[in-house]
Amino acid sequence: MATATEKTFYLETFGCQMNAHDSEKVIGTLRQEGYRQVETEDEAGLILYNTCSIRDKAEQKVFHRLNDYKALHKAGKRFGVLGCVAQQEGEKIFERAPYVSLVSGSASYRKLPEMLSRLEAGETRITGLDDRQTDETFETEFTARQNPYRGYITIIEGCDKFCSYCVVPFTRGKERSRTSTSVLEEAKRIADLGYTEIQLLGQNVNSYRDPEGKCSFAELLVRVGQVPGIRRVRFTTSHPRDFTRDIVEAIDAHPTLCDHVHLPVQSGSARVLKAMAREYTPEWYLERIAWVKSAKRSISLSTDIIVGFPGETDDDFIQTMDLLAQVQYDCVFAFKYSARPNTPALVMIDSIPDVEKSKRLQALLDRQREIQRPNYSKHIGEVMEVMVEVQNPARGQISTRSSQNKTVNVTWAQPIAPAPGSYMRVRITASHPNSLIGEVV
Ligand code: SAH
Ligand code: SF4
Ligand code: F3S
Repeated sequence: MATATEKTFYLETFGCQMNAHDSEKVIGTLRQEGYRQVETEDEAGLILYNTCSIRDKAEQKVFHRLNDYKALHKAGKRFGVLGCVAQQEGEKIFERAPYVSLVSGSASYRKLPEMLSRLEAGETRITGLDDRQTDETFETEFTARQNPYRGYITIIEGCDKFCSYCVVPFTRGKERSRTSTSVLEEAKRIADLGYTEIQLLGQNVNSYRDPEGKCSFAELLVRVGQVPGIRRVRFTTSHPRDFTRDIVEAIDAHPTLCDHVHLPVQSGSARVLKAMAREYTPEWYLERIAWVKSAKRSISLSTDIIVGFPGETDDDFIQTMDLLAQVQYDCVFAFKYSARPNTPALVMIDSIPDVEKSKRLQALLDRQREIQRPNYSKHIGEVMEVMVEVQNPARGQISTRSSQNKTVNVTWAQPIAPAPGSYMRVRITASHPNSLIGEVV
């Protein structure tokens, strides 16, 4: 139980891995300022939500949460909204939820210590909001790593692509990269902590441009993979526009770089891609896929799809389905189009009724499930190295991951399971459309 003078906080995170990792940095900063993290809203003096606004549902979830807990304000608790909804809605949040006293976008997190002291002094309307001009990146040595098996490093923040449907260029500011020197220093610190897996993060991770000009994105991948102790390097998300052949060559030549590429396509229709301002055609995208497929290593592919973009016809949708069949992804994240504030697509009429979007989404997921079956069953009999992620011997299983990013559930009868982050060799005995089953060899 917290004492009267103790500074405590509760933090809930919504959204993508960038947000999850920002929260690790925020937690570290708060601890440095003398705060202790607690498990529930009830125990906390300060309640923080690190928010996502990528789709309307994500944003609504945040306001529901704020509403559900507003009674706690009367008990003297303070509320803060961080992240993408904070940057997008700004001071309007104070109108909608008057019990909130702090609103800060991710580009202002460097100012958190200062904002916290103003909060402690009793100020009730503190903002950290940036226009798209900021060059700041949020680098801190105090990152409180929460993931027991994977160390995250943000290498590039923001986005300059302005896809017509997307809020990110507005919520995360302009594109800015960290120096390769600082990235490699952080990779070494992560290895010193005992991590063997690193994931490099960015809204467009492969748009990375070293401000010192020392290395390209592909070279940075290789160098991170050469840090002593590091056995697995992942990176997300790659944008097709900036996906270069040397990335495939680096993966081919360096076994520490995981054999998996996430390359969001969004649609298989040239017409829809144009309206989305993705600035590539299906043919251009498929050429990048051909590079990946011609590698010596078998590189797993995954993607993101939006269904029901304004004006998407049955024929456009069929072209997306055809692209899935052609590429044979191992994993697809598919979303119904959601009209977002500030975005250029807002002027297009959100013409596809929700029931039709749902129908297309379901048809796509059903089709993809069938496409995935052989991609997973082909591993039966194979012996592979996996990393333990979640121990659950109670269920007689532990959850592990292959280098290709496939979930492998391993049968485990003993009471003590290997720790998250440890490696084991398993033989694949069965498969599902989304996961593999293995036994220790
Ligand atoms: N930077 C990455 C994607 C970041 S957002 C890229 O360009 O690929 C993650 C995914 O959310 C996107 O790939 C897209 O599929 C989806 N998404 C973004 N905005 C959306 C919107 N307005 N409606 C539905 N899905 C959206
Ligand atoms: Fe959004 Fe496009 Fe930027 Fe990805 S590249 S974050 S989809 S604007
Ligand atoms: Fe959401 Fe912001 Fe990430 S909108 S997906 S939390 S960049």
